[in-house]
Amino acid sequence: MAEGPVVIRSYTEADIPQLLEVQRECFPPPYPEEQLWTPEQLRSHIAVFPAGALCAEIDGKVVASCTSLIIAFDPAHPQHTWAEVSDNGYIRTHNPRGNTLYGIDIAVRPAYRGRGIARLLYRARFDLVVRLGLERFLTASRMPGYHRHAGTLTVEEYAQRVIAGELADPVITPQLRAGLRPVAVVRDYIPDEESANAALLLEWPNPHVEVNGVAATCQ
Ligand SMILES: CC(C)(COP(=O)(O)OP(=O)(O)OC[C@H]1O[C@@H](n2cnc3c(N)ncnc32)[C@H](O)[C@@H]1OP(=O)(O)O)[C@@H](O)C(=O)NCCC(=O)NCCS
Repeated sequence: MAEGPVVIRSYTEADIPQLLEVQRECFPPPYPEEQLWTPEQLRSHIAVFPAGALCAEIDGKVVASCTSLIIAFDPAHPQHTWAEVSDNGYIRTHNPRGNTLYGIDIAVRPAYRGRGIARLLYRARFDLVVRLGLERFLTASRMPGYHRHAGTLTVEEYAQRVIAGELADPVITPQLRAGLRPVAVVRDYIPDEESANAALLLEWPNPHVEVNGVAATCQ
């Protein structure tokens, strides 16, 4: 039977069992189990900012999810940790008066990867940025391919090679392809052995909003 369309919508309490499955499938060891969403954290996302709590569904099956909150971001001070920005995953740091939609995770079940589902979730996040008149979408990407090059490259050199297209990273590369652009490498961002705990900060500037008198040119 032909598969139905991908539906992007806010996730709800009823989706929690499937969202927990998505997490288990998407973040196998050595990723620390305590970093996976708990029902309490998911309930908090739904209560605090449902517009940022998105899932992708195909024929009633939740195949992917992502979570965002609004923060007041100062581009002059890009260094931060995942725990600080996400309130340890509970997003009570959500600031409706902020300037930036911040993505704290994205996960697509392995069997559904490579068919544009992450791209659809990013598109929904970018639409939300435009709808809310925010300055940008911002996220810090894991770089799980780094561990294969840890003996020869620093995390900054590795990120540079991925940005230049000389290496492909399973998480950074899809985000670059989805239209995000690099800002800075953040060290000690999150416990993540494969990424040496580092992340690449990426942004999508709202092309409709001028920041310091300059409108973004990307789309
Ligand atoms: C990263 C992730 C969300 C990508 O999801 P996805 O639905 O497979 O991505 P898409 O199909 O939308 O791919 C977007 C683009 O990236 C490319 N891409 C996807 N996976 C890739 C990979 N492993 N290597 C290189 N390029 C890749 C796709 O070809 C596509 O580019 P194109 O349309 O220009 O050809 C998914 O791999 C995942 O869940 N990973 C594990 C969880 C994780 O680490 N999440 C991030 C941190 S919270």
